[in-house]
Amino acid sequence: MEGYIDIHNHILPGLDDGPATLQEAVEMARVARKNAITEIIASPHHNECNHPSRNEILAMLELLRSALKKTDMPIIKIYPGNELRISLDLPEKLKAGEVLPLAESSYVLLEFPFEGTPFYAEEIIFRLRVDGWIPILAHPERIYDIQRNPERLGRFIDMGCMAQVNSNSVTGELGRASLETAIKLLKRGWVDIMATDAHAPHNRAPDFTGALKVAAKIVGRQAAQRLVYDNPGNIFTIEKRSSI
Ligand SMILES: [Fe+2]
Repeated sequence: MEGYIDIHNHILPGLDDGPATLQEAVEMARVARKNAITEIIASPHHNECNHPSRNEILAMLELLRSALKKTDMPIIKIYPGNELRISLDLPEKLKAGEVLPLAESSYVLLEFPFEGTPFYAEEIIFRLRVDGWIPILAHPERIYDIQRNPERLGRFIDMGCMAQVNSNSVTGELGRASLETAIKLLKRGWVDIMATDAHAPHNRAPDFTGALKVAAKIVGRQAAQRLVYDNPGNIFTIEKRSSI
């Protein structure tokens, strides 16, 4: 088995609230590799505050890749992506190629506001599915209305969404509500992927170690491994699915 795959990571510098410098991004990659992560999908925010262009993301990715080649660290692969805040024009932006799916696949990392699921969420998810995208909901355990009523996530899963929990929710670093909700979702078998959502080398770091131990206690060791290896690995192998 190769290392873990981290599909939600803000490693690209200067594009959002991730690392400020290339040097810090290289340090993040070094920490990730030390923690047995061998593949990262860089997922800078695309929201009201941060909306780097596709070209900016791809250019920064190339800069980081060449900086990593100059180091003595073992190979770590970095792919392009975005963390896409749900909005009414998101399907058009994806169609126009203004924003990025995960590693050029048919999967998109979709974020809801923490305050709650917008009234148009189902409509947008339906449109994304019709267009052939598979939305992966980023950290549902952090969204207030899902914390209050985890059943809400079931509706989106029924519509063809997948769910990604944060490793730092599972370790309790993001507070009690995120931890308790993550555990409930794991127990229900509603979690497909765990990712680090790392923003820095040492605080909100790229590390699965503690979270894998917790997840293994809840769902068993093999199922926990699937969250960071087999399931995210499918992003690289499954062809774009036909529309529903
Ligand atoms: Fe994120």
